[in-house]
Amino acid sequence: MNTASTTPVTAVIVVAAGSGQRLGYGMPKAKVPLSGDSILVHALRGVAAAGIAQQICVAIPPGDSELQALCESFARDLKAEHRPGAPAEQGVQLPVVTVVDGGASRAESVRAAMAALLPDTAAVLVHDAARALAPEAVFHRVAKALAAGAVAVIPVMPVVDTVKTVEPTTGGLAAVAPELVTGTAPREALRAVQTPQGFDLATLTRAHEAAAGLDAGRAAAITDDAMLVELLGVPVHAVRGASQSLKITTPLDLIIAEGLLEGPLGVRWVEG
Ligand code: C5P
Repeated sequence: MNTASTTPVTAVIVVAAGSGQRLGYGMPKAKVPLSGDSILVHALRGVAAAGIAQQICVAIPPGDSELQALCESFARDLKAEHRPGAPAEQGVQLPVVTVVDGGASRAESVRAAMAALLPDTAAVLVHDAARALAPEAVFHRVAKALAAGAVAVIPVMPVVDTVKTVEPTTGGLAAVAPELVTGTAPREALRAVQTPQGFDLATLTRAHEAAAGLDAGRAAAITDDAMLVELLGVPVHAVRGASQSLKITTPLDLIIAEGLLEGPLGVRWVEG
């Protein structure tokens, strides 16, 4: 287990209140089994293993007693690992685990969790439970950039596909194909964005307060926290992410995640 005790990070928010409709399991994604445990337990283990949080604040679907119990059981296990004489590494602080009801959108779930942070929280990492296999190294890279003075940090990956913009085809051409290409984005300047995303708490609070004034259309287009910080005109820094931080969204993603967990080295030890 690693620690990053020189960083200012004190809290990790784990948003796990999504419905998981695209995965097609008929249950919230956080509960979906992945190699014997739920997606949420894998995500929480990753956060705890990174050793950077004094508080882990989890947003779950409102009133979901099963996920509430799962978080409580995780907190108990964590406590047992940290009891005097237990083999958990010396000097690693036991994080407080807090559970809150999430909201109707991801941003609302983040805000619900922010409202439950410990009063002295200075910095926060916001992490999607759906990125259940994010390795410790990514948490550390984000925390290190925050400690070095950044107020907003995101982990990113180069884009391997050529990315084009399109619009719906209209008129007679609609019979040819449904969409028409309008341009090609310069791939070398594109990055795919992951979580955990790290922020100075005052900046993230300001960003979410500003978002409260957005109309419904623009609010729906907010897919991560860094977008809100960008709208403030505050610089957002990017560090290297990891391919195993994939967001488990479709059945294929679940198969890939299971394959990673069952790999010969174990997913958390594979870099790149
Ligand atoms: O749906 P999407 O892929 O944007 O979800 C990303 C993350 O945000 C997931 O971990 C999901 O559980 C979380 N989420 C949430 N509350 C919502 C919607 C999504 O916590 N209302």
